Amino acid sequence: MDKPKVVLGVSGGIAAYKACELLRRFTESGHEVRVVPTASALHFVGAATWSALSGHPVATEVWDDVHEVPHVRIGQRADLVVVAPATADTLARAAHGLADDLLTNTLLTARCPVVFAPAMHTEMWEHPATRENVETLRRRGAVLIEPAVGRLTGADTGKGRLPDPGEIFEACRLVLARGPVAPDLAGRHVVISAGGTREPLDPVRFLGNRSSGKQGYALARTAVARGARVTLVSANAALPDPAGADVVPVGTAVELREAVLRAAADADAVVMAAAVADFRPAVYATGKIKKKDGQEPEPIALLRNPDILAEVSADRARPGQIVVGFAAETDEVLANGRAKLRRKGCDLLVVNEVGEHRTFGSEENEAVVLGADGTETPVPHGPKEDLAGIVWDLVARRLR
Ligand SMILES: Cc1cc2nc3c(=O)[nH]c(=O)nc-3n(C[C@H](O)[C@H](O)[C@H](O)COP(=O)(O)O)c2cc1C
Repeated sequence: MDKPKVVLGVSGGIAAYKACELLRRFTESGHEVRVVPTASALHFVGAATWSALSGHPVATEVWDDVHEVPHVRIGQRADLVVVAPATADTLARAAHGLADDLLTNTLLTARCPVVFAPAMHTEMWEHPATRENVETLRRRGAVLIEPAVGRLTGADTGKGRLPDPGEIFEACRLVLARGPVAPDLAGRHVVISAGGTREPLDPVRFLGNRSSGKQGYALARTAVARGARVTLVSANAALPDPAGADVVPVGTAVELREAVLRAAADADAVVMAAAVADFRPAVYATGKIKKKDGQEPEPIALLRNPDILAEVSADRARPGQIVVGFAAETDEVLANGRAKLRRKGCDLLVVNEVGEHRTFGSEENEAVVLGADGTETPVPHGPKEDLAGIVWDLVARRLR
C-alpha cells in the first residue's frame, strides 16, 4: 500500500522548530511528508533541516522545478495538509484565498482534509481580524486546533502556544483516518469529563478509583479532530493535554460538578466519562491521621456526593443538548446499564464491564451504547478511540 501523503506547511513563527518533531512523528510512522515552509519560516529553521528530515526537496516559492508544476501537484496529491505552526499572516492569506507562495497555492489545490495549528502572541490570536480568519477557515471545513495556554516568545504567558507536537500528530492521525469527510462537529462545543475523582481524608490520603482518564482523553482528541470546541474537565489524569482541548483540572466530585456545570452552559453535548466517587469522607482531617498505640482505627463516615449525570440530564443548560453517561459495571452489565439509563435520564449510556485488570488503564475497551430511544449499539473490543468515534457518530446524528 502507498504511504499516506502528508504536506507539512510551516510558517514563520517561533514554534517552527517544534514542526521538526511533528515531521519525525509522521515519517517514523510510515507517512510520506513534503515540507512546504514559507520564506519567513526559513528564518527560524533552515531548508537543509526540512529536506534532510523529510527526504524531499524543499521550496518556498512556485518557481522551483516548474516542469513538475509543484504549485498544483503537491496539493492535489496530498491525503492531508497540516500547517503547524500557522502564523496570523498565513491564516489571513489562506482565509482570503491568496496564492502568493507555494504553501498558499498548495492550500488552494488540496481537496483533502486540512488542519491548521495556529501559534502566536495572545494579542494577535484575539484580534478580530484573526478571529474572523479562523472562523472563515473553519466554515470552509478546515480543522483549527486551538492554541494552548502557556509560555510564549520571551517572558509572556497566555493563549497562543503551539500544542505539544506529539498531540498535534495524534489529531492529524485521527483526521487522516476519517478521510475526506467534513468535520461534523464543527461549530459545536462539547464538554467531556475524564479521569477519576479523589476525595481527601487528610492532607496525604484520599479515596479514589482506578480510572486512568484514557477513554475521556480519547473522546477529547476525537472531538477535536472532528472540528469541535472541546472543554475537557480532567480529574487527576496523568496524561498529556490533547491538542486543541481546553483542559480544566479538578480533584474532587464537587469540583468536577462545578467545572462541568460552568462549561455545560453553552455546550451542545456533555459526555461524562469520568469515574466520579459516589461518596466522600464526612470529615476532612487537617493533619495527617495517626496510628494510636493499642487502638483500632476510627471507622470512616461517608457522605453522598452529588449525582452530576442526573443533574446535567435533568437541567439541560440549552434545548437539544445531548447528555452521554458512562456506566462501569462489574456484573449484570446490561441490566444494570438499562436501569441506570432510565434513572439518570441521559440520552446515551456507554456500558462497559470493568474489573481489576479490565478497561481501567488499558488502551482498549468494549462496550454497548444504550440509547434512551431504545437503540443498542455494540462496540467490539478495540482502541478507546474507536469507541469514542462511535459515541460522536451517535451524538452528531442526534444533534442534526
Ligand atoms: C522572532 C519572531 C517570532 C515570531 N513569531 C510569530 C508567531 O509565533 N506567530 C505569528 O503569527 N507570527 C510570528 N512572527 C511574525 C511573522 O514571522 C511574520 O508575520 C511573517 O510575515 C509571517 O510570514 P508567513 O506567514 O509567511 O510565515 C514572528 C516574528 C519574529 C521576528
